[in-house]
Amino acid sequence: MKFATLGNTGEKVSEMCLGTMMFGLRCDETESDRILATAMDAGVNFIDTAWSYAEGRTEEILGRILKGRREKLFVVTKVTRSTDGDWIRRSIDESLRRMQLDYVDLYLIHWPRPHMRPVEMMEALNDVVRAGKTRYVGCSNFPAWLLAHCNAIAQREGWAPLVCNQVPYNLIERGIEVEVLPQAVAEGIAITTYRPLLMGVLAGKYGSGEIIPEDSRGSSDRRIPAWLEKFGEGLRRFNQFAAERSLHPAQLAIAWVRHTPGVTAPIVGVSSRRQLESSLGAFDVTLSDAEYQTIADMFDAAVKEESGGNFAHLRRAFDLVDV
Ligand SMILES: NC(=O)c1ccc[n+]([C@@H]2O[C@H](COP(=O)([O-])OP(=O)(O)OC[C@H]3O[C@@H](n4cnc5c(N)ncnc54)[C@H](OP(=O)(O)O)[C@@H]3O)[C@@H](O)[C@H]2O)c1
Repeated sequence: MKFATLGNTGEKVSEMCLGTMMFGLRCDETESDRILATAMDAGVNFIDTAWSYAEGRTEEILGRILKGRREKLFVVTKVTRSTDGDWIRRSIDESLRRMQLDYVDLYLIHWPRPHMRPVEMMEALNDVVRAGKTRYVGCSNFPAWLLAHCNAIAQREGWAPLVCNQVPYNLIERGIEVEVLPQAVAEGIAITTYRPLLMGVLAGKYGSGEIIPEDSRGSSDRRIPAWLEKFGEGLRRFNQFAAERSLHPAQLAIAWVRHTPGVTAPIVGVSSRRQLESSLGAFDVTLSDAEYQTIADMFDAAVKEESGGNFAHLRRAFDLVDV
């Protein structure tokens, strides 16, 4: 496992971040423990969670399975529900209590909210840093303009800046290429990317037109059948391209994200140790520029504008920030 630098912080993190959203949801504590052990054995030191995952059970499981491992890890959690200052200060205490930790390494605002108050939010995040409860702060699902707006406030006030933006990115959802990735490169913002497999659609587990396996996320998430129908032909070519190179489709899809300039680390989410063992192979795959482009061209997902699939809910969001 190679290491990457987390934006301007200079921190070294593994170029794979382990996502834990399935811990307590689609895998029990024993399997979650095995997944964490396998990731760490492979050299992963970067782990992502959130206050909201499995209604708090994920952080509670982590509290038990991080024991004896914490010092080797760079731990990220997120504040979900609100961007109000009081909630930001309270939510970190809840996360630390559940995870039985004194501090996390990075604390992210999970989503922007209508009528959010960036000055209040940035002041609260700075308070959390000053209290020693997190070492760095950042955001998730923020458009580039909002991150820049918040960091201008931080710079003006001498507060801790947002150092990372966690965003969706895969062969089909490519909206961040317009603004978020160029901003990251220009300003040294770390980018961690979630959903590299489009929730499993790019993992070769669904055949087009076939019945969705009952034990998959496709059986409960309506977006998956819609994507399968829309991108079926591209998926067929993608799976064939992987097979010709003796790669698992999940390895190829994650490797493609990892090869995109500006991406610090894809967040790899799994529901079993077996899936992780397979996906880890992505970090040994080298793609030529021609291969990278060929794969990208398999999907009719060219980014026409920032809202093309991503950030759609932020379109014309003139009420996002209270001024
Ligand atoms: N900031 C945010 O708003 C946000 C949002 C979502 C996620 N995240 C983070 O990003 C992480 C990853 O998100 P995600 O789970 O949506 O990512 P994903 O990589 O798009 O989907 C993961 C799913 O793909 C399937 N899969 C994974 N590896 C596989 C393999 N080797 N073979 C076959 N199938 C495989 C599994 O589906 P089945 O379970 O159906 O088998 C797994 O649950 C999360 O854990 C979380 O930490 C952040």
